[in-house]
Amino acid sequence: MSHEPAPDSQILQVRDLVVEYAVARGSVGAVERVSFDLAKGEFLGIVGESGCGKSTLLFAIAQLLSAPAAITGGEVVFKGNNLVGMTDKLLAASRWQDLSVVMQSAMNAFNPVKTIGAQFKDAIRAHQNWSREKIRQRSAEVLRLVGIDPVHVKSYPHQLSGGMRQRAMIAMALLFTPDLIIMDEPTSALDVVAQRSLMVQIKELQQQLGFAVIFVTHDMSLVSHFSDRLIVMYAGQIAEAGETRSVFDSPAHPYSKGLLEAFPSIRGPRVHMTGIPGNPPALLDPPPGCRFAPRCPVVMPRCHDTKPALYTVGEVAVRCLLYAKGEVHV
Ligand SMILES: Nc1ncnc2c1ncn2[C@@H]1O[C@H](COP(=O)(O)OP(=O)(O)OP(=O)(O)O)[C@@H](O)[C@H]1O
Ligand code: SF4
Ligand SMILES: [Mg+2]
Repeated sequence: MSHEPAPDSQILQVRDLVVEYAVARGSVGAVERVSFDLAKGEFLGIVGESGCGKSTLLFAIAQLLSAPAAITGGEVVFKGNNLVGMTDKLLAASRWQDLSVVMQSAMNAFNPVKTIGAQFKDAIRAHQNWSREKIRQRSAEVLRLVGIDPVHVKSYPHQLSGGMRQRAMIAMALLFTPDLIIMDEPTSALDVVAQRSLMVQIKELQQQLGFAVIFVTHDMSLVSHFSDRLIVMYAGQIAEAGETRSVFDSPAHPYSKGLLEAFPSIRGPRVHMTGIPGNPPALLDPPPGCRFAPRCPVVMPRCHDTKPALYTVGEVAVRCLLYAKGEVHV
């Protein structure tokens, strides 16, 4: 499929991406026409409730989906090449070297019967014909980068704490100094203090090495501190997207407002956590109009049968009919 050449500053362009899971009763539209751009060195946060399609979107970007999930529309243009439909051989070359992934289940992603060093070596050997000495040096280097003593190349995963295993996963993702690291809740299994220190470290590494990050989390306070830009997903779609500061200072979408109210204020005094009553809709048969209509505190009659587009409101894009007078963004 043809596409515009990527401007130099952009590393990733996701265009109208659609992902469906084929199930017995039809198809579950887990990602519905998602579009966004990512600049070199940018930190993009993606938030949203459980089941809204965050992991599916990340898997689709990294071309790691397997049946019953499939990309049924759109493009993922990474460094000027559309990854959708690319052969496995070409993809394998890009993955790990230019783009690496730290998935939600990273805590268990290491093989328990191999040392950390042996697993780093396997990852390197899959792509590069480096000497044993070079592999040893690079493995020690990436462990040092994430604050782990290089003696741990000889350790087995169970000999590391949870936080160290997460760091070791990130070290593995850094082996080839990629341009983009995709992280799916890399800190969620850690306690609050360990989460913070890992995030600070990821941010420092990003500033030092210049890679871009797509970071999925449930934790609004983490994204508020660390991400440049934010996408709020609801029921497989972008509900709101923009600079993190703009979304936090004045959330426009009723869902973003609810999500922010559900978390204690990070600046002001602790507030009552109201949350958003109800649950996201089943994606096998989503509401015909706005997908948030069944839960929206400011729902209007037309919301039940009119699908909102993404409208530009000041600095952000918002999928809500309250802003339908705005310029259509996508
Ligand atoms: N194997 C599957 N078959 C059918 N539907 C699936 C399958 N896996 C996921 N889904 C559906 O896809 C939707 C998105 O799931 P996904 O795991 O991407 O959400 P998520 O936002 O990452 O959630 P969480 O925050 O819990 O990790 C869910 O509504 C789920 O029902
Ligand atoms: S379109 Fe209607 S139901 Fe949907 S978020 Fe906006 S006001 Fe609420
Ligand atoms: Mg997930």
